[in-house]
Amino acid sequence: MLRVDHAGEYGATRIYQGQLDVLGGGRKAGEIRRMAETEKRHLARFEELLHQRRVRPTLLYPIWSVAGYALGAATALLGAPAAMACTVAVEDVIDEHYRGQAEYLAEADPELRETVLAFRDDELAHRETALAHGAEDALGYDLISAAVKAGSRIAIWLSTRL
Ligand SMILES: [Fe+2]
Ligand SMILES: [Fe+2]
Repeated sequence: MLRVDHAGEYGATRIYQGQLDVLGGGRKAGEIRRMAETEKRHLARFEELLHQRRVRPTLLYPIWSVAGYALGAATALLGAPAAMACTVAVEDVIDEHYRGQAEYLAEADPELRETVLAFRDDELAHRETALAHGAEDALGYDLISAAVKAGSRIAIWLSTRL
């Protein structure tokens, strides 16, 4: 669980880095930067937990670096609404993912459960922010959404195993 969560938060920081490199001077830069800061905080926390519990990070780290960045930059190149649509789709999947973990952790590890639930709240706030900043105005919203969700699910599946 920690491995996949750490991988996911790392991927998130890479997505926002990709978006900021394209849209960093644009009107939505502030919003994107704020979301990126949350992801860095999430990542730092999971990094701590990996060390504490002696969990090795995913072997796919270099792939998530490139894939996350590419996803962020590619959606940003389609415009700010597409970048926001990407965030909505990712956070939809992460909401599901963290909710599932929280259910499992209720018995196994209540403390980690609190962390996961708190982060899930942050991700839902990102989703709201992205919707408020025009995600649904993106041309091909449904297509972007479906593709990003599929990619995110595959990334989760792989990071759980590798
Ligand atoms: Fe996050
Ligand atoms: Fe997020």
